[in-house]
Amino acid sequence: MNEDKESVVCPGVYAGFVSDGLIAWYRENKRDLPWRNTGDPYKIWISEIILQQTRVDQGLDYYSRFVSRFPDVFELAGAEEDEVLKYWQGLGYYSRARNLHASAKMIVEEYNGKFPEKYEDILHLKGVGEYTAAAIISFAWNRPYPTVDGNVFRFLSRLLAIEVPIDTGTGKKLFTETAGILMDEKQPGLFNQAMMEFGALQCVPVSPDCNNCPFVFKCMAYIARSVNLLPVKQGKTKVEDRYLYYFHIKQGGETYLEKRKGKGVWYNLYEFPVIESGSPLEFMELRMHPRFQEIFGDIKEPKFRLVLENKKHILSHRRLFASFYEVTVDADFLCQTLSGASDSLIRIPENTIDTYPTHRLMEIYLEGSFYS
Ligand code: ADE
Repeated sequence: MNEDKESVVCPGVYAGFVSDGLIAWYRENKRDLPWRNTGDPYKIWISEIILQQTRVDQGLDYYSRFVSRFPDVFELAGAEEDEVLKYWQGLGYYSRARNLHASAKMIVEEYNGKFPEKYEDILHLKGVGEYTAAAIISFAWNRPYPTVDGNVFRFLSRLLAIEVPIDTGTGKKLFTETAGILMDEKQPGLFNQAMMEFGALQCVPVSPDCNNCPFVFKCMAYIARSVNLLPVKQGKTKVEDRYLYYFHIKQGGETYLEKRKGKGVWYNLYEFPVIESGSPLEFMELRMHPRFQEIFGDIKEPKFRLVLENKKHILSHRRLFASFYEVTVDADFLCQTLSGASDSLIRIPENTIDTYPTHRLMEIYLEGSFYS
């Protein structure tokens, strides 16, 4: 036990008691997860990126498939981006996969394929923030950087009844310092894993089982009856509505896909040609849209059939409403954008669609109607 760690910052809480208690609890209760049985920073990095916005149970299969296809940084750096995205398909937040790929190339080029060991260098990798850098460096090399994820925010906010909002700069600094004070300096990796696991399994968001908690008599929120009020968040990010109108063009056995551009989360994923709008559009309004002209030109008598209407899909910052039109065209038709204006549109045999990386909305449509 760390007798010298009675904390002024954390009144009433004995830091050694907390870290010893967490580690003892962890040894008894931890889940056996594959990334916990490796010291390979590459694999730890992959697991942490997958787990950034994905639940552990959902991430497990993706992790296994990903590291068996890309077992080291050279394999990942040498792969085509389309293939990396295909392995990510269904996980969402595709920038994570693009950043992994870009960072793998950087590790090969700048570090001869050896994973960087300095915190600042790890932090420099695309898609790696303070939490992920701390996780990699503490799990792989047992260095004392605290990992403060959502589970840790919750546990610490309750243990110490901290009401400072966790989504503020002040809050992040305070919680990181607090985790550092409580940390078992001899085994920071284990301590970090234990605190995260405790938050994930025991100190859960709703109705935690406080009667069976080893910290119940040291938990300031339990004593103050404020467990269910913590942690505090300052505010929610504004969610924007967006309307998407997809055109599934059918021409013999072929169709058209477009590689998505721009800065959005679906960048470089494939989808049907689309018209996007901030408000709902009637079919007549679609026909008059400049993008309609771009796709279809002066096409004569195309047959449009509305197959899926206003399918709702929630992203962290957007509510999407997607409609899919099936469009039957004759053999002479050539998508206007394919005739030179776009290098991102391709004509493909319909039965090869599932070899292209795509996003959840396309998947929903393809599962539901195309193959039926
Ligand atoms: N969430 C993020 N990182 C994790 C890890 N290493 N183990 C379990 N859950 C996690």
